[in-house]
Amino acid sequence: MDSKRRRLVQAMAVGGAATWLAGCGGGDSSDSPAPSTGSPNQPDTPETPDPSEPPVARVDFNHGVASGDPLADRVILWTRVTPREETAAPIPVTVTVARDAALLDPVARFETQADAQHDFCVKQDATGLDAGRWYYFQFQVGDQRSPIGRTRTLPAADRFVDRARFAVVSCANISHGYFSVYKTLAEHGDLDFVLHLGDYLYEYGIGEYGDVPDRDPLPPHEMVSLEDYRQRHAQYKGDEDLQAVHRQYPMIVIWDDHESANDSYQGGAENHQPMTEGDWQTRKNIARRVYFEWMPIREQNPGDTATIYRRFQFGDLIDLSMLDTRLEGRDEPLSLPFDPARNDPERRLISDTQMDWLLEGLSASTARWRFIGQQVMFAQLNIAEIPSLNEHAPQLRGNLSAINMDQWDGYAADRLKILNHLDDNNIDNVVILTGDIHTSWASEIYRNPGSLLGDLFDAPLATEFVTPAVTSPGFPEGAAELAGVAIPVVNPHIRYVEAKSRGFILMDVNRQRAQAEFYYARDIESFDLRGQIDESKTKLVAVYSGDSRLREEGLRPSRPRTLRTALFHPPAPASASTEKMA
Ligand SMILES: [Fe+2]
Repeated sequence: MDSKRRRLVQAMAVGGAATWLAGCGGGDSSDSPAPSTGSPNQPDTPETPDPSEPPVARVDFNHGVASGDPLADRVILWTRVTPREETAAPIPVTVTVARDAALLDPVARFETQADAQHDFCVKQDATGLDAGRWYYFQFQVGDQRSPIGRTRTLPAADRFVDRARFAVVSCANISHGYFSVYKTLAEHGDLDFVLHLGDYLYEYGIGEYGDVPDRDPLPPHEMVSLEDYRQRHAQYKGDEDLQAVHRQYPMIVIWDDHESANDSYQGGAENHQPMTEGDWQTRKNIARRVYFEWMPIREQNPGDTATIYRRFQFGDLIDLSMLDTRLEGRDEPLSLPFDPARNDPERRLISDTQMDWLLEGLSASTARWRFIGQQVMFAQLNIAEIPSLNEHAPQLRGNLSAINMDQWDGYAADRLKILNHLDDNNIDNVVILTGDIHTSWASEIYRNPGSLLGDLFDAPLATEFVTPAVTSPGFPEGAAELAGVAIPVVNPHIRYVEAKSRGFILMDVNRQRAQAEFYYARDIESFDLRGQIDESKTKLVAVYSGDSRLREEGLRPSRPRTLRTALFHPPAPASASTEKMA
């Protein structure tokens, strides 16, 4: 930016406020005239050094750009500035938001800064945007520019909306392979947003969990300190496929356990040893602080890095409640699968405050669908009666036992509270979206699935879809195949299990039905096969409005709405640009 315009912007937008330019406030991008001046690519005066101004820091944008937490009028924009020389001084950063991919039609500029206190991560809540629109954005330090990102606001809550499409992902351990799934999503032309249900990264050191060549974690040891967590986040944000998906779509994220440590809860974690790794509260606070630095998530209260449960309204079609079942209120997991303490009414997976917020939100919702995005499997899983079909049965039982008490099964009173609330208040069209266990599931949710009498008599209270992992492994060979057959036999409410393959769910939602499309990656260990889908494994499951029973017959993959998007809102370009303005 030339110095004259910088002074103008600073005068109009002190402290991160927006400067509104031509094209703001109405019409589609196609009918917004480009301003005759004011384009960041077309300086209206030649660059002339101003000796009264401090020199601009030399920086790089090595970690891409991202956006997240879209609302109808705003979205979080994120990048990380890497200073070429150590500096204690804050670095001024300009954020430009535009309707077009070349940023010729800017609608807002924001002045903010990068500083060491936040690891030079920059987050701008870009306010004052129009609902249900694509936008492009770019960060700038002096004449050095980030890659351009694309994002999208949600439709206004009171607006009739007939369709939504979004992807659901979780569990991306770098040491288990390439982020093929992210590449697939980045190349998909038609998503409203990406829902990330946690385990965005993992805490382990080299060789502790995964050993795919060239995918060793950084730092090489388990992340424990502030510097460790920052370095691990930085490594993940250096992955080209992760950068690609962040560049194209806003992401709605929640953490699971591995953003802090395996099987974490409010007061500790399986993979935290206080004797050698220090105080858990200190480590938990570090994990949450760095998460808020490096992820495009909005603080619910200024400076609050502990609260991630929050709600999104996608027109009148979807109310989406995102939960924190990990760090906010969870009691320590039980270790024995049939410990009667799991039914203790005092046992908590989420705090009473979060529970009240959830139940009140479900009651107040007037949208067609109520989605709940959360970490651990909600459906009951009966592992006592898994038959001993062959030599893999003990292996299967062992895998299931390991996850069982970490899920809602280990906190049965909290689950019952939600189901009673749905039933007592006749709340319908509830769809739960889950991650965490590196396997795919589609389940009907009943209060007591063990006493099912048959379709004529039993009406499910909700539906659950569990997304496969991006890379983290499911069940071992043999046990995985057995799981797909044996689990639905003794758990008739569980209609689909795929226990091995990596992939994602594409949710295609309209007024009549919510369709979960399970897509699986062809290969996650080959760099060259990134982005390819194994279509022979694709599975479609749908739930119809007013029903809650799962349907599998007669479904077809949904069609993208790409033509208009492709014409007017093409993907953000891949190339980074930190070149001096021409
Ligand atoms: Fe995971």
